[in-house]
Amino acid sequence: MDLKDKIEKAKEHFGKLLAEQYERVARMKEDSEFIDYSALPLIKIGVAGGDGIGPAITEAARSVLEYLLEPEIKYGKIILSDIEGLTIENRVKANKAIPDDVLAEIKKYHVILKGPTTTPQAGDPWPNVESANVAMRKALDLFANVRPVRVPEKNIDWVFFRENTEGAYAVGSKGINVDEDLAVDFTVATAQGCERIVRAAFDYAKKHGRTKVTAVTKANVIKTTDGNFLKIFNEVASEHPEITADERYIDIMTAILIDEVRRTQFQVLVMPNLYGDILTDEAAEFQGGVGTAGSANIGKRYAMFEAIHGSAPRMVTEGRAQYANPASIMRAAAMLLNHIGYTDEAARFNRALDICCFSEWKMVVNGRPDGATGAEFAAYVTETIKGL
Ligand code: IPM
Ligand code: MG
Repeated sequence: MDLKDKIEKAKEHFGKLLAEQYERVARMKEDSEFIDYSALPLIKIGVAGGDGIGPAITEAARSVLEYLLEPEIKYGKIILSDIEGLTIENRVKANKAIPDDVLAEIKKYHVILKGPTTTPQAGDPWPNVESANVAMRKALDLFANVRPVRVPEKNIDWVFFRENTEGAYAVGSKGINVDEDLAVDFTVATAQGCERIVRAAFDYAKKHGRTKVTAVTKANVIKTTDGNFLKIFNEVASEHPEITADERYIDIMTAILIDEVRRTQFQVLVMPNLYGDILTDEAAEFQGGVGTAGSANIGKRYAMFEAIHGSAPRMVTEGRAQYANPASIMRAAAMLLNHIGYTDEAARFNRALDICCFSEWKMVVNGRPDGATGAEFAAYVTETIKGL
């Protein structure tokens, strides 16, 4: 193929991507308000165990949810049921990140508790299907990835609002290899997508009495998409004179987070997708690692709560799945309770986790047979809740 044809082919591909993005813009323009859970006669919670250690840790979190929501489940205010089929085997069979029938099932619920799902990479025995989390975030339009990180003794109390549907992830699997010499990926920022995540961060700050929101971008270099993100951030900020609007670049931000004094000044942080992916792993490390943090993926209609870590397939092949630590998905389950308005139950769940993981520490889940199983830990957490 000569150069002209290669360029024409790439332009055609690019045209298709733009058309897809305009469809998304049209959907965002029609978007309604956030669902009001208090007005729902019935709240449906779906539980998808995922792969690897997923089913074991998800079951542990589910058992605590069942205890906390016992009266609601009994009186038919809440349904808690399993969503089958979100496994790497089924995904490979359908050659889709989420098989159609599983997605249709997921959409029957309001909120989803999701165990880790395996993301194939080059060299794996699996074909390279897209990450199920990324696909679910897009399919359910879960635009706000909310990741709190708290280390009280170090004065760290951050809430990250990571944009979850755009940026480098929007067309992440559809870049162009024009030929063996030239490859191009795309980063997308829409006015609607930037505005809704920035508003979510400011609304959260306002509701929770936080006084500062920090935007993290690389707008000095990525001038168009990050530039627009920052412009919209400043517009929304001007509607909130009571909140200090602050901006940082991602490179210096990663450095400031390891400065024990300067990092305590941050409260709520909002940023494009990829920066949020990177910064939240760094931030979670101060709290004890990605295994200790839960993650909320919030949209106007649906919401999904997950552990930050992966499916640890090696633990399964070594017969250790039952010893996997369910703390991260339990934190996610507590976020789910908060999201649907069960704030007292969420607070009790979190307090019990603090006691079981940090202060009392009667048992340790260390991933090995000399530690406790996830089921034993779940029973310990439930007993602790009863004693609160
Ligand atoms: C996360 C993860 C995912 C992401 C991976 C598993 C695709 O790192 O939830 O942060 O990049 O978003
Ligand atoms: Mg990540």
